[in-house]
Amino acid sequence: AKYTKVNQETCIACGACADVAPDIYDVNDEGIAYVTLDNNKGTSPISDEFWEDMEDAFEGCPSESIQVSSQPFESKYD
Ligand code: F3S
Repeated sequence: AKYTKVNQETCIACGACADVAPDIYDVNDEGIAYVTLDNNKGTSPISDEFWEDMEDAFEGCPSESIQVSSQPFESKYD
């Protein structure tokens, strides 16, 4: 499985991820991206039909804020 999460500390609100992978990412009112599936917790496995889009977002983010892992990200209760 693959998991993804946006580093919102480094996201510069360019919006590219939501354009290339709209099934995974969206942007909030400030333009900061998040993973829609799990409110950016990075704990929901991404369906393999979206892996290519996720890879495009990963490679296309100008601030390298898209994180991808084969393990779920630590869940944070904040
Ligand atoms: Fe932010 Fe990168 Fe997406 S800058 S809006 S995470 S493409």
